[in-house]
Amino acid sequence: MEYKIGVISGDGIGPEIVAEARKVLDRIAKVYGHTFTYEEILLGGASIDACGVPLTDEAIAQAKSSDAVLMGSIGGNTTTSPWYQLPPDKRPEAGLLKIRKALNLFANLRPAYLYEELKSACPIKDELIGDGFDMLIMRELTGGLYFGERGTEEVDGILTAHDSLTYNEHEIRRIAVKGFEIARKRRGKVTSVDKANVLDSSRLWRKVVEEVAKDYPEVSYEHMLVDNCAMQLVRNPGQFDVILTENMFGDILSDEASMVTGSIGMLSSASLNDTKFGLYEPSHGSAPDIAGKDIANPIATILSAAMMLRYSLDLDQEAAAVEAAVKQVLADNFRTVDIYSEGTQKVGCARMGELICERING
Ligand code: IPM
Ligand code: MG
Repeated sequence: MEYKIGVISGDGIGPEIVAEARKVLDRIAKVYGHTFTYEEILLGGASIDACGVPLTDEAIAQAKSSDAVLMGSIGGNTTTSPWYQLPPDKRPEAGLLKIRKALNLFANLRPAYLYEELKSACPIKDELIGDGFDMLIMRELTGGLYFGERGTEEVDGILTAHDSLTYNEHEIRRIAVKGFEIARKRRGKVTSVDKANVLDSSRLWRKVVEEVAKDYPEVSYEHMLVDNCAMQLVRNPGQFDVILTENMFGDILSDEASMVTGSIGMLSSASLNDTKFGLYEPSHGSAPDIAGKDIANPIATILSAAMMLRYSLDLDQEAAAVEAAVKQVLADNFRTVDIYSEGTQKVGCARMGELICERING
């Protein structure tokens, strides 16, 4: 089959990690007889430098005409990069939020599991890890604080800023349905995370989740306050299957969950709408401090490409082959510096990509 893939290399380590994911996709194409054509799409700092804005209408149209979009990372050093001298709505991250909204990518899936081989990179004590963990964070991605009304003004001579957190019941319902649907295909448990002891938006969240839960009697569910969830993630990560939560909580909890897996360099993500289309990106940022040094970990991007094969292109077998190759490369003791431990072999970003390709043989 032939597929058209939009590629956002982006900023910082973005181009390096995307290059490795493309190598892996090309390997899949060769072994399984597919054709992937790539179209470079500008977003973030790269787009600011080329076009003066972090996302153009043309870039949105390019993304829309693709079967799926694979992305690296965007953004720069927020204290030193000139991009952050621009007004907030012209900065790199504004482009990312705009494309999420423009493509209606309301469901962000972030799987976090512990590879047996990376147990030593996991900062949590063995007795707390137990048999390991395998969770998926279902993060709402187009609402809440990220998209609410905001502003900064002087009130009685005092500079005052506000950001508003708004959700309507439809937005909550559609992400809750995604959460329960995926839980049904996993271990059948949803932990809905909110701050219902304080926030109205969370109380509505809880109400709607309870309504949706009635349609999924085979899925068990619980509510958990976000502060407790942050604690439980480092106390007993094995208790979670699907964590269902709003945008900001999901942003924070997914970074925490990734670190529990050993490195933020391992966590993939898929941002989906109601069609087959999706945008696939690692959960980590652009790490400008290590850009261009060939030391970034490309695994999160490669695993994001695997999610793309599975969710947007319906290539389950190919996705599984990529995931198995990642597992094999770890079993064979190769590590990028972020997951390195004594007794393993340290390799760079490009070499890691090649080693994974070598392990895809159909
Ligand atoms: C993420 C990132 C983004 C977010 C930033 C870059 C705007 O942290 O995808 O988790 O906050 O959603
Ligand atoms: Mg984040």
